[in-house]
Amino acid sequence: MTDTAVSVDTTVSTTPGKMPPVVRLPKPVQGVLLSGFRRWFQQNAQKRYGPVFAINVPFFGRSVIVSDPALARQVFLASTDDLMNVQPNLSRIFGPGSVFALDGKEHRARRKLLAPPFHGQSIKNYEKVIEEETLRETANWPEGAEFPTLEPMNRITLNVILRTVFGADGAELDFLRTIIPPWAKLGSRMATLPEPPFSTGPYSPWGRLAEFRRNFDRTVFALIDKAKSDPRLDERTDILALLLRSRYDDGTPMSPQDVSDELLTLLGAGHETTASTLGWAFERLRRHPDILAKLVDENDEGGNEFRQATIQELQRNRTVIDFSGRHVRAPHFDLGEWRIPHGYTVMIAIANVHANADVFPDPERFDPNRFVGTRTPTAWVPFGGGTRRCIGAAFANVELDVVLRTILRHFVIETDDAADEKIHFRGIAFTPKNGGLITVRRRKAAA
Ligand code: HEM
Repeated sequence: MTDTAVSVDTTVSTTPGKMPPVVRLPKPVQGVLLSGFRRWFQQNAQKRYGPVFAINVPFFGRSVIVSDPALARQVFLASTDDLMNVQPNLSRIFGPGSVFALDGKEHRARRKLLAPPFHGQSIKNYEKVIEEETLRETANWPEGAEFPTLEPMNRITLNVILRTVFGADGAELDFLRTIIPPWAKLGSRMATLPEPPFSTGPYSPWGRLAEFRRNFDRTVFALIDKAKSDPRLDERTDILALLLRSRYDDGTPMSPQDVSDELLTLLGAGHETTASTLGWAFERLRRHPDILAKLVDENDEGGNEFRQATIQELQRNRTVIDFSGRHVRAPHFDLGEWRIPHGYTVMIAIANVHANADVFPDPERFDPNRFVGTRTPTAWVPFGGGTRRCIGAAFANVELDVVLRTILRHFVIETDDAADEKIHFRGIAFTPKNGGLITVRRRKAAA
């Protein structure tokens, strides 16, 4: 495709307080471009219209796409009286008890409730689990034969989040391990498709999602019953125990259905994203021998500054979640020189923000050094921002760090000048098209 498919609406003025330029294409065409060719569409429309432009698409309706770092920051920091949660949102997959469904006071209360397991010392405690799961998954990695890393990374991150959420292993978790991956794949694809108003039958995608939900709830309700009869429930630090002990302001506990919705949210939001970033880590390192060598040396000496910079650069250069959305609640929202009307969706095109050459010179280049010894620019927003910033950001960072550390300690990754893997959209996350292919050898001296 070329960028000539998108034409400028020259009738729209850009005087202060006016509507941003509008993409003039039929609504269904814009919908197809946004869902099927998002990166291409956003990049080319930005080139044509500038960093703020309006679209009209089937699922989100009239929307404004923002690629400018300062304006993205203004959106993230806006009052929730002006910008509320995007509608519709992922609670249509996770359920109405999910944090994704909540707004205002309820949202703040749920975030407060969920905060402890995602902070400081709690996250440090997960390091052991992450290392164990990495060693378990990599124990049988083939030597000298190319293989995709994305699926192994998905298994590691799913096992880690399952153990974090439920605090233990067991038959129920084995069952969840088998049903969650196909659900995540289907759920991602269906996340932004409108649900038909009529029943589509048990074998349709919607029917299969409903069946997954029945199986998931049945398993989680059994785990809730088990936990409630656990005499050590008060001492437990897992997320299930935390939700069961929590009380709303009026003293009532969360219903089992709300607990189940929230646990599904953390399992769903908390594993594919991190796994996709790890898939990109291997895709990038295979093609960057100098960076890989520096990481290995630093790791052998026990450091992690360059590894942290590499993780930041990965999340910038190969942004996995390219969307943070809000909904204009106020009569209008003034964004820089633009006035966005009530009812509009505001979408931050995170990958475009990360490709801003003023903040990140030569943005196409993969170069962790840009993050060494400097303050992280406010334009680095892989986890979104403001009151809805990703709750698992610190958790994901530790997970990325420990998985990479463990694999670099035990394996030599072969490098070559293979062409970059294409960027593939899985419905929610952007992943390496061939699954992050690498060839490894086991390090003989590894501990
Ligand atoms: C590299 C990994 C991850 C990336 C790139 C990522 C990215 C994001 C982004 C962009 C948002 C939307 C933020 C906004 O609208 O401002 C988000 C929200 C969220 N993420 Fe993550 N995430 C990651 C890992 C995780 C993990 C590990 C968990 C949980 C264990 C998690 C749980 C959530 C939840 C619950 C929300 C909704 C927050 C709310 O609405 O208040 N994420 N994430």
